[in-house]
Parts: sequence; structure tokens; C-alpha cells
Amino acid sequence: MSGQSSYTPRSGLSKWIDQRLPLPRFINDTMMTFPTPRNLNIWYTFGGILTFCLGVQIITGIVLAMHYVANAGMAFNSVESIMRDVNYGWLVRFIHSTGASMFFLAVYLHMFRGLYYGSYKAPRELIWIIGVLIYLLMMATAFFGYVLPWGQMSFWGATVITSLFSSIDQIVPHLGTAITTWLWGDFAVGDATLNRFFSLHYLLPFIIAGVVGLHIWALHVPGNNNPLGIDVKSPQDTVPFHPYYTVKDAFYLCLYVLLFAVFVFYAPDFFGNPDNYEPANALVTPPDIVPEWYLLPFYAMLRAIPQKLIGVLVLGGAIVTLVFIPWLDTSRVRSCRFRPLMKQFFWAFAVDCLILGYCGSQGVDAVLFGVPLIWLARLGTLYYFGYFWVLMPVIGLIETPKPLPASIAQSVLGDSATAPAE
Ligand code: HEM
Repeated sequence: MSGQSSYTPRSGLSKWIDQRLPLPRFINDTMMTFPTPRNLNIWYTFGGILTFCLGVQIITGIVLAMHYVANAGMAFNSVESIMRDVNYGWLVRFIHSTGASMFFLAVYLHMFRGLYYGSYKAPRELIWIIGVLIYLLMMATAFFGYVLPWGQMSFWGATVITSLFSSIDQIVPHLGTAITTWLWGDFAVGDATLNRFFSLHYLLPFIIAGVVGLHIWALHVPGNNNPLGIDVKSPQDTVPFHPYYTVKDAFYLCLYVLLFAVFVFYAPDFFGNPDNYEPANALVTPPDIVPEWYLLPFYAMLRAIPQKLIGVLVLGGAIVTLVFIPWLDTSRVRSCRFRPLMKQFFWAFAVDCLILGYCGSQGVDAVLFGVPLIWLARLGTLYYFGYFWVLMPVIGLIETPKPLPASIAQSVLGDSATAPAE
């Protein structure tokens, strides 16, 4: 993608193809000889794992769609029929439903890795921003997908989230209600809503695949960042992607698939909500409407604010904030390994996200050690925004980073590495 191609066709046929469609050259340059920092650790295997997860969701999703019926009167039973009547339908469905959680687990580890090693900093801002777009698309896809089984949580989840748009009424009277009705395609969540959500749920993963292509394209321009956060200075700092990282990625992918299999075969409902085994009923509201675990921190922020419109703005602001991170971080050092102060706030931020997730999973009136959880959620929300908008810019200016190693090679190989030419 960038730099000189190292490809030499090995046969007459590959030369013939290369002159007409340089696909073998492209694969060679991006996946075989691509110079990759020699110090990438386990956290760098999640990009590959995510690509695998996307593939699994698309393949299992297509098979499920062959048997699913997007009709409010039949959707729930068609899913039950997939589970009971379709050959290995239970397996395909459990891979798809558990797969969504495994996909989000991987994306969160991938994002926190980027935050810790400062991978969003120049010249990788666009890789990060495209990543945020992928994350948004993933959340939308997961939300649409969760509605499809048409259980109680599907129906009420769809009702709560789409109704958020009605808060726009507080700015322009009637506009929010009009948008909500337009989204529903009816005067309540119903058959029309289910149909369009199915259509979008089928479409979005292919759009995600296209955006992932851009993400990896943008990555191949500067090349990977690395745990030290310093630039590649000489060929000694890198190794070819194949076989070094193909083997490493494959090894960790196998471990991830093992974990995936444990959930699919031994605890397939671990991530699910029992209320979704009840068919959707517009006349009975479940005691607590909770989204899937991966959306809980945002849900906690939404509920922490009593005023609906402000809650919606806070929720949107929490996601939009991610786009600005490359410019909010003022540090001249990328990796938190060399940032003693920021490192501590980073870990506090990780714990904050878990606390917010916990608050989101509990009932609105829940209390912990005598403290209403809503207050914990408010504090958590404050830290979330404070981390990005106050701590990131300020600490970058006042912190004294630890000295950086002279090069990647020197840090990995010690003094046996020859010093790079300045
Ligand atoms: C379907 C979802 C995604 C896929 C398939 C994907 C794929 C990849 C791959 C293959 C890499 C290179 C290997 C690696 O560093 O792990 C990568 C790097 C990166 N990704 Fe993603 N990604 C996804 C989502 C995201 C999201 C949501 C973000 C952030 C919001 C993000 C930010 C980054 C960054 C900053 C890098 C460069 C890391 C570095 O060089 O240190 N990605 N991604």
C-alpha cells in the first residue's frame, strides 16, 4: 500500500495475473512481507480476532436468515423452530448470539489497547476515527439484531431506545414524536419496525466489512504502532508479517475460539436475558429493561440524568468524545508505559467503565451499601468525561515521562542491536 513492492511472480501464470490484476502483489505486500514492529504483544492479536468475529457473524447470520421470519406474529416461533427443528440450528444460533458478545469483548480490548499505547496519536488519527465509526456501526447492528427474536426484552428494548428520539420535542415541539413514529413505521413498535430492523441488521455488517477495509488500509500507511509507542527507525526494528505475526495471531485466535466454544457449548445463555424467552407482549412491561452487557455503561449514563433530553445528549456525547481523543491528548509520548501519572488514571478509567456497567445492569432504584446507585452512576459519568476532557489535556502538559528507549530493536535485543543511524 505504501512504499516499494517486494513482489516477484514465481510462475508464468502469477506474472500473467499480476500484470492484469495485481492482487497477488497486494496480498504479498500487505500480509506477507509487510514490515511489522518486532515487539507486538498479545494485545495486537485482537485486530485479527475481530476480523474473524466479523466473518463468523456474517456467515452464521446468513444461515439464520434462511430460516428466520421477520413478521411480528411469527418471528418468536421461527427462532424456536431454528432451535428445535433446523439441523444444527441451535448451534448456528448460539454461535451468532454468543458471537456478538465475543465480538464486543474483543473490540473493547482492542480499543483499550489503543488508548493505553496511544495508538490514536499522529499519524494514526484516522485509523482511530474509522475505528470509532466501526464501533458505532457495531452498536447499531447489535441493537437491531437483539430486536429480531421478538421476545420481551427485544420489544421493550426497541421501545425504550427508539423513544429517546421523542426527547427532541423539548427543543422543537412535535419533531421528536414525528421522528419516532417515522422510525417505527407505525404508531408503536410493531411489524413494520421489525421488518426494517431486520433489513438494516442484514445490511450493516457488510458496511462494517467495507469500513474495516478502510481501517486496515489506513493502518498500512504508517504501519503499526507498538507497546513502546516509538517509531520504527531501522529495518532491525521490524520483522516480516509472515510468518512471525501470522503464527502469533493464529495461536491467540485458537485460544479465543476455545473460550468462545466454552460459552457456546456450556453456557450459551450466559450473556442473554431470561425475559427474552417470553414472547413480546405490548401489554406487559418487564420489571427492568436492560440492554446487553456491552451497552450497559452508556445505559447507566442515560439513566443517571433525570432530564431525558440531557441524558440523551450525555449518551451521544460519551461516544462523540472518542472522536476527539487524538487532539485531547497533549502528551508528546504515546505509550502509557512511559507515563507514570497517566497510567494510573487509565486504570481508574477502566474500573470506571466496569462500575458504570454494573450500575447499568441494576434496577433504577438499586442501592449499594446504603448509597443509591444512581449517584455512583453520576460520579462514574463525571469521571468518564473528566478523563477525556480534563485529565488527558492537562496531564499531557504537566507530566514528566520516563526516558524512551533508543529504538525498538535496542529495547528487545539489548546491546546486541546496532544503534540506528540518526
Ligand atoms: C470490526 C472491528 C475492527 C476490526 C476488524 C479491526 C481490525 C484491526 C486490525 C486487523 C488492526 C491491526 C492489528 C492490531 O493492531 O490489532 C487494527 C489496528 C487498530 N485498530 Fe482496529 N479494528 C476494529 C475496530 C476498531 C475500533 C472500534 C477502534 C477504536 C475505536 C480501532 C482502533 C484501532 C487502532 C488505533 C489500530 C492501530 C493500533 C496500533 O497500531 O497500535 N479498531 N484494527
